[in-house]
Formats: sequence, C-alpha cells, structure tokens
Amino acid sequence: MLPPAHEQLIVALDVPTGKEALQLVSTLNTTVSFYKVGMQLYFAEGNSFIKELKNQGKKIFLDLKINDIPETVAKAVEVVSSLGVEYLTLFSGKAQIEAARSVITKNGSALKLLNVTVLTSESSDFLAVESRAKLSFDAGAHGLICSGFETQALREKFGKDVVLINPGIRPLGADVNDQVRIVTPKKAIQSGATHLVVGRPISQSANPRLAAEAIQREIADARALFV
Ligand code: C5P
Repeated sequence: MLPPAHEQLIVALDVPTGKEALQLVSTLNTTVSFYKVGMQLYFAEGNSFIKELKNQGKKIFLDLKINDIPETVAKAVEVVSSLGVEYLTLFSGKAQIEAARSVITKNGSALKLLNVTVLTSESSDFLAVESRAKLSFDAGAHGLICSGFETQALREKFGKDVVLINPGIRPLGADVNDQVRIVTPKKAIQSGATHLVVGRPISQSANPRLAAEAIQREIADARALFV
C-alpha cells in the first residue's frame, strides 16, 4: 500500500542543530509532514528532538545505520521502538536484523526496519544489491534504502508490500552536489519507490517551501501516470 502522495516526500534534516532543523520544519510548515533525522542531528540533539518533531505531528525516519553484535542492536532497537518513529535504518547482517525484528514483534511496535544494502559511495553491481536485499527480507526487514536505478528490479522481485526508499533525488535542472547516481522524482515514482528522501534541493533552495511543493506535484503527477 502506497502512502498518500504528499507523504512520499521525506525531507532530510541535514543540519547540525535542533534550532536550525526546527527553522526548516517551520518554513516547510504544513507542506511537509515526513522528515529524516540522520546521525549528525541525532547525535547533537538526541531523543528530545525526536519528541519535539512528534509533538508537531510529524512522521520521522531515523537514519542511524545501526550495526553491532545482535544483542547490542536489539537493545538499541528496543529504545527506538518506543519513540514512535516510522522507520529506522540498520546496516546489518542476518543475525542483527532477526534480533531487531524480534524486539519489535515482542513490543508490538509499529516501527519498520530498513536495511542499507550497499552504500552508494561504494561501487556495486545489481547482483550484490539483490543478494543483500534477499538476506534483509528473509531476516525480517520491512524495506531497503536503494538507489533509483535499482528500485524497479527490486520492486519486481520482492513485491508491492516492501518499503523502498530512494535518496539521490534531483528534479530536472537541480544542482547535483556530491550525488552521483541521481534520478528525478518522476523516475523514482515510476520505478516503484515508496518514499523519496530529498535534502539540499529543498533545504538550500531560495524558497524551500516552493521547492518541496514542486517535488510533491511531480510525485502526484507521476502517480497519476504510472501507479
Ligand atoms: O541533499 P541530498 O538530497 O543529496 O540528501 C540525501 C540524503 O539521503 C542525505 O541525508 C544522505 O545522507 C542520505 N543518503 C544518501 N545515500 C544513501 C543513503 C542516504 O544520499 N545511500
């Protein structure tokens, strides 16, 4: 089941302080309801920032790419599972994902686990991604972070219910920054992405709210055409 079109856009809060993050959230106001909190902001502000975003009625993707021995991963996931965030990333193998999934099942938490297959900063072929994807789903992951180039094949192979989140999104004409394998919002939706994570094309835009609205329109138009 796809989320509503406006919730398919997740804005990355890649800023060093809670103050700056809340400024961006306030600028985006009611336009954006889903945010990604990564290591930089989480290590700076911790769970009090997560609670603040939750109080504002926002949905949260906590991108911490957790990996350690299974027991330690399970204990970390136990803490996150009571925060009310929607998604948490692991960068783990079979035993860790299984341990994380059992904690969620035991707690009756709605938290969804996303595994990172291969970092986009490393070269890889589709077979490597596919085998990590299979391992992830077999172990109990709900979804994956994947590039827009792999999404269609992963969607076809693993079906309509898995969560596939695409970073590396650039609207036509946007600054590429340091991303290499970029796709447009339209292409990501056409390929079957559940959500698009967008950072700088929104946060560094002269008008972040208009930039977010334009991406949401592109998502809605692509859904009307392809989904
Ligand atoms: O600014 P930009 O749109 O490139 O930001 C993309 C976001 O997605 C960043 O927060 C980055 O850490 C994250 N990300 C990524 N590639 C991955 C996983 C996460 O760009 N493979």
